[in-house]
Amino acid sequence: PPRPTPLKVAPPPEMEPDDGRKKVTVFFGTQTGTAEGFAKALVEEAKARYEKATFRVVDLDEYAAEDEEYEEKMKKEDLAIFFMATYGDGEPTDNAARFYKWFTEGEEKEDWLKNLQYAVFGLGNRQYEHFNKVAKVLDELLEKQGAKRLIPVGLGDDDQCIEDDFSAWKELLWPELDNLLRAEDDASGATTPYTAAIPEYRVVFLKPDEGVHLDKSWSLANGQAVYDIHHPCRANVAVRRELHKPASDRSCTHLEFDIAGSGLSYETGDHVGVYAENCIQTVEEAERLLGYPAETFFSIHANKEDGTPLGNSSLAPPFPSPCTLRAALTRYADLLNSPKKSALIALAAHASDSAEAERLKFLASTAGKDEYSQWVVASQRSLLEVMSEFPSAKPPLGVFFAAVSPRLQPRYYSISSSPKMAPTRVHVTCALVYETTPTGRVHKGICSTWMKNATPLEESNGCSWAPIFIRQSNFKLPTDPKVPIIMIGPGTGLAPFRGFLQERLALKESGVELGHAVLFFGCRNRNMDYIYEDELDNFVAKGALSELIVAFSREGPTKEYVQHKMAEKALEIWNIISQGGYIYVCGDAKGMARDVHRVLHTIAQEQGAMDSSKTESFVKSLQMEGRYLRDVW
Ligand code: 2AM
Repeated sequence: PPRPTPLKVAPPPEMEPDDGRKKVTVFFGTQTGTAEGFAKALVEEAKARYEKATFRVVDLDEYAAEDEEYEEKMKKEDLAIFFMATYGDGEPTDNAARFYKWFTEGEEKEDWLKNLQYAVFGLGNRQYEHFNKVAKVLDELLEKQGAKRLIPVGLGDDDQCIEDDFSAWKELLWPELDNLLRAEDDASGATTPYTAAIPEYRVVFLKPDEGVHLDKSWSLANGQAVYDIHHPCRANVAVRRELHKPASDRSCTHLEFDIAGSGLSYETGDHVGVYAENCIQTVEEAERLLGYPAETFFSIHANKEDGTPLGNSSLAPPFPSPCTLRAALTRYADLLNSPKKSALIALAAHASDSAEAERLKFLASTAGKDEYSQWVVASQRSLLEVMSEFPSAKPPLGVFFAAVSPRLQPRYYSISSSPKMAPTRVHVTCALVYETTPTGRVHKGICSTWMKNATPLEESNGCSWAPIFIRQSNFKLPTDPKVPIIMIGPGTGLAPFRGFLQERLALKESGVELGHAVLFFGCRNRNMDYIYEDELDNFVAKGALSELIVAFSREGPTKEYVQHKMAEKALEIWNIISQGGYIYVCGDAKGMARDVHRVLHTIAQEQGAMDSSKTESFVKSLQMEGRYLRDVW
């Protein structure tokens, strides 16, 4: 699949000249920063344990500028540790995609990695079908190519406590590293307990008139040749409207970003990454808990005054500064997720009340494991909620941004338009996340709330804007428009299919002949959440969509879902597949996509009169051929 052009960054500094010290490279494939955090934490700890080794942390995207360089570089590694997250439909993270493709699709050569020793820790979620697929595949392939596995692949499960999985895996790793890296004369050290230092950025407080205000820094991102996650493009909100009908007690926003003249472009089926802002109530609460005024003006640095790095981290500051605390909290701080155990330890270190400090340390300890699972994770206590329960814990800003609050991550949406219809607009279809957590807190999704409340240019020149970027996907229409397609997308899973249908309509209007297209859409009730109803009718009327099949789950006495409608249309679906057609599924991965997958098996098995293992390999082959594509979350 096409991937965004990787950003050309200076490669990480090469190892120091060979001085006989063992070299350890810790790679990470990260999407939301967890794998990166683990990689850095491991190196911090390892550095203090093993003075006779050199360590470096490497973002896989920056390992080699060209694919041709991977082999030479890998051959020079002594000991490699990989932290690999699995995303979406069993895929690697964006920053690991190029390396993973090269490693898994290249020719298999035996023994070329025989000098390498390695360990892999995976980050995934057991609720998904392809649990930790990327880590498992990498782990097996490294061994096949001759490398020596130090310990079994770690299968971190984000559905439970992934930090505990990481700790348990580390306990297996240390004895191996002790053997390999400890100096002979240091036999005593083997049991030295070690606690990692709490990371901290250097913060310099400034008077408001000192230095340039970078509060508008995002606008400086424009003018980039390539936009990506690190260089987003400022885009105005041109249109915003509610898609649910008044009878609905939920909300779904249709939003259009204006990309005219920005240089940003996209293809039907791509995703858009959006950096949203925390709402003002959240930010004010954080300011109060931290005990600094909103207008506190500061710069933040990852290096010492003499320019050398602080700890193991890179030289890059976490976000552009100088800026006000208000701006930093609004744009860069993740305040609503549950705090990690490492965040609790950092809070404990800055709690003036010793009882609070002890309780925080307990929650982060092995003994407090169950309580952490219950009180923090299962209760969905946000970072701010936890901080408000420990009012004496007031970390300095450098600690807060390095160790307590992770960086606020962009949210991804399947684009719901086609550039053939909307070349200067990126459309998003976004359901509002609004739920009451077990503690009674009303959790409002950061980006969906921001979108719902955005002011469009239609209404005001002072419209809302956000930094955005495009992530390419392989969720694409067949190159030949005559090939028949089946689309399955309940709820906001409809988004990319609206783009597909816009594209087909544009093709049709320019005289292109189209193949058969069936859409299975599902919603609760036609008077509430039947989104884009008029548009869908129009696609049918104009011939862009051959058949529209809607399952209403809350109209009749029994639930009707898209997969039930599919079962009714088994023969037709089978005919389309047999004619070389494509099947697309978009939406919820844990429930819907899994159920649809099962029904697809049943249809193939019954209609194709195959036994179950034959059906299995048949469906696999559809996936391998790229005829069964899923955009699921
Ligand atoms: P429900 O809310 O009535 O359960 C869009 O969200 C639609 O998908 C809704 O009608 C929702 O029904 C339905 N849905 C929920 N779980 C599903 C599943 N496992 N498979 C298919 N559709 C599902």
